[in-house]
Amino acid sequence: MRGSSDRPRVTIYTAVSLDGRIGFRGRRFVLGTCEQRILHHYRSVSDAVMVGAGTVISDNPSLTVRLVDYKGGQPLRVVVDGRLSTPIDAKVYDTSMAPTLVVTSEASPWEKRRRLEEKGVEVVVAGPGPWIDIGFLLSLLWRRGVRSLLVEGGATLIGELVSAMFFDRLVVAVTPWLLGSGATGFLEKRLVEPVRLRVEEIRVCGVDVVLELRPLTGSL
Ligand SMILES: NC(=O)c1ccc[n+]([C@@H]2O[C@H](COP(=O)([O-])OP(=O)(O)OC[C@H]3O[C@@H](n4cnc5c(N)ncnc54)[C@H](OP(=O)(O)O)[C@@H]3O)[C@@H](O)[C@H]2O)c1
Repeated sequence: MRGSSDRPRVTIYTAVSLDGRIGFRGRRFVLGTCEQRILHHYRSVSDAVMVGAGTVISDNPSLTVRLVDYKGGQPLRVVVDGRLSTPIDAKVYDTSMAPTLVVTSEASPWEKRRRLEEKGVEVVVAGPGPWIDIGFLLSLLWRRGVRSLLVEGGATLIGELVSAMFFDRLVVAVTPWLLGSGATGFLEKRLVEPVRLRVEEIRVCGVDVVLELRPLTGSL
């Protein structure tokens, strides 16, 4: 794994169909209670939870820890949105629930940055953009004290992290659906080298299976 000394430890969590798809025509996966508990556990042990703009637009997640009897703090919510295309009334921008940091670029409208700041959202402008280098983004979070980062999607952000090998753990909830080629793939990114993974844990959650994997170095 590259650069793991100056970036947070990255866990990617995703729910996929049997054919590796994560979204079907704007419809989101509904996680069962067991997978939700696992996901919320990962949120509770992470300093920050990160998604890209596409996930905020399509799923509108709140990204908070909602475990029964949970008394700990909420992780910092991080939205990567180079153009600020996410709606201002998205749940993640309700800072009464948890703090939010949006990482954007100079390509985003100044007025929208100001409106987000008025809502209590921290806005960081990371370069001219609209694209923000993923390594730079991780080192920015590291400098802010984020040591453990949970990434909940979507496909674009996960693809950036996997192709750069900027991840330490991959948690995949596999659900017995087939969604076909019209659906968004879990990894829509060309890889220079295949990525080998080691299965560390397998949990059966009702009809779903949750795999915890770690990347291995070395080629096939
Ligand atoms: N099954 C699951 O577990 C799961 C979880 C999350 C999401 N999803 C699904 O994934 C799909 C969304 O996929 P997606 O690829 O659109 O989601 P995404 O990765 O959350 O968002 C992609 C968008 O975020 C912005 N972005 C990401 N990285 C950036 C960077 N380095 N610099 C600047 N901007 C960056 C860009 O916005 P602009 O294009 O505006 O520049 C980019 O198009 C939906 O169908 C959703 O339901 C599934």
